[in-house]
Amino acid sequence: MLRIVLLGPPGAGKGTQAERLAAELGVPHISTGDILRQAVAKGTELGLRAKEIMESGQLVSDEIMLGIIRERLARPDSQRGFILDGYPRTIPQAEALDGLLSECAEPPVVIVNMELDREELVRRIAGRRSCPNCGAVYNVYSQPPRRQGVCDVCQAGLMQRADDHEETVRKRLDVYDRQTRPLLDHYAGRLTRVDGQGAPDAVFERLTELVRAAAGLRQGHRT
Ligand code: AP5
Repeated sequence: MLRIVLLGPPGAGKGTQAERLAAELGVPHISTGDILRQAVAKGTELGLRAKEIMESGQLVSDEIMLGIIRERLARPDSQRGFILDGYPRTIPQAEALDGLLSECAEPPVVIVNMELDREELVRRIAGRRSCPNCGAVYNVYSQPPRRQGVCDVCQAGLMQRADDHEETVRKRLDVYDRQTRPLLDHYAGRLTRVDGQGAPDAVFERLTELVRAAAGLRQGHRT
């Protein structure tokens, strides 16, 4: 069973790489940001509570997030492993996760931190466009759709995320520095660091190599 926790600041490429890695390893990609955005889109009670918080660049409460992650990790597909993207984001979330994972006797989790300088983070976030219909993610600078503003997969009109506007991005990066960066000390000695610079293919190659080494996997292994 392969369990991976993907850490990194907003825009580091966690979602992009987690999706590819999940397909490569045959485990689910669990993104707390995606779970919250789906709840907002459906207008559920969770979505109504999360919408304003997300749009202001702040974090949803630890209590709500723990409920979400506990429920998601209990589902059958998570029993063969998973890639966590966007959780944990605070020390209490990390402690709660340590508790959840210590309940099973499987080998340790691979914890990866994707690193990228601030200027490139801002550029990537500013250029991100997403499909509200199928969730595909593009970038006007690095991964543009074939037709400007139109999803390659389902032809819906692309949108900018509500929290990707410049002022909110700066706030998200400050929140990251204050509340999430301390996780690097929490996981000190257990952390695999990956340089997020470069084209997505190059980052993916670097990431898979490091994950395989950290997990002791052979090339081509699927769970
Ligand atoms: P979430 O969706 O998790 O956002 P995030 O962590 O801020 O990360 P992003 O989605 O912005 O970036 P990413 O690292 O996934 O980068 P991506 O691959 O898209 O969370 C959103 C909000 O939900 C939070 O602010 C919070 O309010 C709430 N939330 C979520 N989890 C929570 C939790 N646990 N606790 C509390 N609140 C929580 O790439 C970015 C762009 O760059 C894309 O356009 C992509 O195409 C492009 N790109 C990717 N890789 C490359 C590359 N190598 N070269 C060039 N371009 C690239």
